Amino acid sequence: MKPYNVVINFESGTLDPGKRIIRKVSDVKNMFYDTQAAEELIQKGDPMVYEVIYADVPEEQGHLGHCTTIIYPGKIGNEYFLTKGHYHEKLSTAEIYFCLRGQGRLIMESTDGDCEVLEMFPGSASYIPPNWSHRTMNVGKELLVFYCIFPADAGHDYATIEEQGYPKLVVEIDGKVTVIDNPKRKN
Ligand code: 6PG
Ligand code: NI
Repeated sequence: MKPYNVVINFESGTLDPGKRIIRKVSDVKNMFYDTQAAEELIQKGDPMVYEVIYADVPEEQGHLGHCTTIIYPGKIGNEYFLTKGHYHEKLSTAEIYFCLRGQGRLIMESTDGDCEVLEMFPGSASYIPPNWSHRTMNVGKELLVFYCIFPADAGHDYATIEEQGYPKLVVEIDGKVTVIDNPKRKN
């Protein structure tokens, strides 16, 4: 293949040319604490929670995958709109999230059971080391847009997070972004 450019719009988060994946509430309902509130939102039109736009890169060792993620503002119950969250199938692969717009949080858990939450804001570049799962939330009132770079053969393991969730939830309490223990977390 030959070198090539894509163009990223920092306002809208589009990456062009790119392959767009859309996640609605119905696609991510199991990830939220308040599944009842998620069901109600699905009945009310099943709004979009986030989009990912991937550059076309071979999913092979040596290549770097890259994409933008756009998370819409919103909540389910008092929990902010979030991504599914995943470990990389190839656990030894790291990733960088560079925030272009909005206000977010990045929650990560390591295979050793450590949990960390980082702030995302325009200009923040978060390093996700190997062996750490990752999920993002939009805690602001506008779009959250960030750019991701990762080894193209990293892959996604969604099942672990879907099953156990994270030890912490990021919720709004009295208008403030608050991190609380996840009452549903087993172990
Ligand atoms: C990746 C990145 C990133 C992520 C999106 C959506 O490994 O591809 O971490 O592009 O996929 O931000 O998050 P989910 O994949 O968890 O839905
Ligand atoms: Ni990832």
